[in-house]
Amino acid sequence: MHIKNLSLHSFRNYERADLALSPGLNIFVGNNAQGKTNLLEAIYVLSLSKSYRTIRETELIRHGYEQTIIKAQVAKMATLDLAVMVSEVEKKRLLVNQKSTTANSFVGCLNTVLFIPDSLQLVKGSPGDRRGFLDVQICQIDPVYRNNLLKYQRVVRQRNSLLKGAWENRSQLSQLPAWDNQLVSLGAKIMMRRQKVVETLQYYSKGAHERISDEREDLHLIYQPFFETEESAARDRTYTSADLEDILRQKLKDLRTEEVRRGYTLVGPQRDDLVFRINDADLKKYGSQGQQRTAVLAYILAELELMCQETGEYPVVLLDDVMSELDKNRQMLLLSILNQKAQTIVTTTSLDSFTPETKERASVFMIEQGQILH
Ligand SMILES: Nc1ncnc2c1ncn2[C@@H]1O[C@H](COP(=O)(O)OP(=O)(O)OP(=O)(O)O)[C@@H](O)[C@H]1O
Ligand SMILES: [Mg+2]
Repeated sequence: MHIKNLSLHSFRNYERADLALSPGLNIFVGNNAQGKTNLLEAIYVLSLSKSYRTIRETELIRHGYEQTIIKAQVAKMATLDLAVMVSEVEKKRLLVNQKSTTANSFVGCLNTVLFIPDSLQLVKGSPGDRRGFLDVQICQIDPVYRNNLLKYQRVVRQRNSLLKGAWENRSQLSQLPAWDNQLVSLGAKIMMRRQKVVETLQYYSKGAHERISDEREDLHLIYQPFFETEESAARDRTYTSADLEDILRQKLKDLRTEEVRRGYTLVGPQRDDLVFRINDADLKKYGSQGQQRTAVLAYILAELELMCQETGEYPVVLLDDVMSELDKNRQMLLLSILNQKAQTIVTTTSLDSFTPETKERASVFMIEQGQILH
């Protein structure tokens, strides 16, 4: 799939921008603070219905304006018109072909993979960062997962408030079993899907990693369910849905007293993690910067394959200022892999980092103070 046209109305530092994108490589060049990241953010919002930079959505509205509208025409099997409207006074609206729709049917219309300098948090960051990466990808390819995840998050919030309140009012605990049942059934579904997806990502990221690492290192990506340690997860056992339900139930029993004591939920996929291993050593603890970067790049390329396998089309790839993070060889390799597959939208402060051949085949745009020039 690819974006044919994009239009921004009073979005961030853009008053009005309308542009046609190439189905191949698009490079946006501009100095700092001109609107490069804002542009990628707008595309991300069209993909996930919300920003990755802020949870306060009115920040997206250009200062001094009341609402912002972002639109795109997306070419896939059929052409889709997508729009997001965020207003100071009204509820956010998501539109597909001019009709208002729910976030659950909106997400998945335009699939994206985002690679920003912060993406290194995939290896270096917290388990929550890693679950975030995984969930953003799965939500785009599976509305049922998205729905279950949102329901599950509500269950955990409810349980937490009961557990917290139990200090003052023990009778609240009588409501727990109903929430426990939901935790078990939704939790097992979420974990099954994550397990499957990580297996696919492992397969593709291993292959991609072999291509981009000079040292012929072996990357191993492992799903670590909340009840495993890094070491036990490395045995890479596959669980059935029944296994997971049994384990969840058992853990709820084992940890009940502890949950009441601490006042929040200790059991469930909100405590899952991913482990990256290179040649059998934990990449987070022992990997060099370069090794971590290469692993993240391999993971991103694997996400592309995962999405193609699940939806039949490659997503749009958004690369914010990451060329400078990669050495020349990896840049060339990345762009040549993407060239055959996906529409790619790259931002940079300088065209110097691109080879003449790359510049030749790309659509190049200049961004200056919220104005885009072709
Ligand atoms: N709601 C808003 N209204 C008006 N301007 C905004 C709004 N939000 C952000 N900006 C401005 O947008 C400008 C461009 O931001 P952006 O993050 O896109 O820069 P950039 O080109 O990616 O720069 P860098 O190379 O430093 O990453 C900033 O000067 C910021 O102050
Ligand atoms: Mg930026």
